[in-house]
Amino acid sequence: MNHKKLSILTTLFLISPTLAAFAQDTGSLTVDSKTIFYVVTGFTLLIALLVLGVSVVVLQLLKTFVDQQAEKIAAEKGVELVEEESAWTKIWTKLNDFRPMEEEGELVLDHNYDGIRELDNHLPPWWKWLFYITIIFAVFYLGAYHVFDSLPLQEEEYMAQIEEAEAESAARLANLPESNIDENNVAFVEDAGLLAKGKQIFNLNCAQCHKENGGGGIGPNLTDDYWLHGGSIGDIYKTIKIGVPEKGMISWELLLSPEQMQNVSSYIMTFKGTNPPGAKGPQGELYVPEALPEKPTETDSTVVAKL
Ligand code: HEC
Repeated sequence: MNHKKLSILTTLFLISPTLAAFAQDTGSLTVDSKTIFYVVTGFTLLIALLVLGVSVVVLQLLKTFVDQQAEKIAAEKGVELVEEESAWTKIWTKLNDFRPMEEEGELVLDHNYDGIRELDNHLPPWWKWLFYITIIFAVFYLGAYHVFDSLPLQEEEYMAQIEEAEAESAARLANLPESNIDENNVAFVEDAGLLAKGKQIFNLNCAQCHKENGGGGIGPNLTDDYWLHGGSIGDIYKTIKIGVPEKGMISWELLLSPEQMQNVSSYIMTFKGTNPPGAKGPQGELYVPEALPEKPTETDSTVVAKL
């Protein structure tokens, strides 16, 4: 491939993201900031590449001229032109501490394994310096992390990040005071206003299946002590939140806010023991609350007496 073809291909390759961005955009006919960014970056890269290419060519030309001139002068003076070592070659030799071939005789070690002999070369300086740098680094590392504790270790860094994230999440929740209610922390609301709100939600959304009095219809009786999915406030909240879609009870999470679900859950709990006429028979398991503050629990002796 000649140079011309190569440069055309390179150009095409470089501007292709720009072209693609344009092609995508013509559909909507709006040029957003991202497209502008692609175009500007594409052109900048292109120009940078062109400048680089031109500089290389110019430098090459200059070198050719200088070389020719040197050859000419050497020819005029009738001396042989000795090429000077390039800076790179000098650095390379220094970095590796190469010994000239002529000195090899002095470097050969005296042992001889079936004709295989060894040269006593120096370790390359670049390698030695890397080694010294690791030692210096280790001293600083040890001091900073383990002696003076001035920098956090990985575990501390991790814990700090966790703390930061927790603080952030707490701050976020603090800004939305009520909506951190879920099935684990939902509480029975005693406030009459909130219970009235719960009743409104119930009559509007739930009564068609559970009856206004909670006695049950399509849905089960909510007034008895028998529950299909548990009778604690948390259980009720959870049933309302995730629903039982396969049985016809939808998830209300997207339709009701956490506060609304808390209010309606609390309202449902007020049905308890109302025993409305025409109520459905018990379904599910008997739910015995852990503690019943409003009704004093029967003592063991009364239970025994009843038996
Ligand atoms: C389309 C009818 C329908 C509507 C509307 C409906 N439910 Fe239900 N609900 C059901 C059915 C059916 C079940 C029983 C699910 C099962 O068998 O597991 C149920 C179960 C429940 C339970 C669990 C009862 C138990 O025994 O564990 C609660 C609590 C409940 N519903 C509350 C509500 C609330 C609150 C609303 C209104 C926001 C509502 N439901 C709206 C049909 C309905």
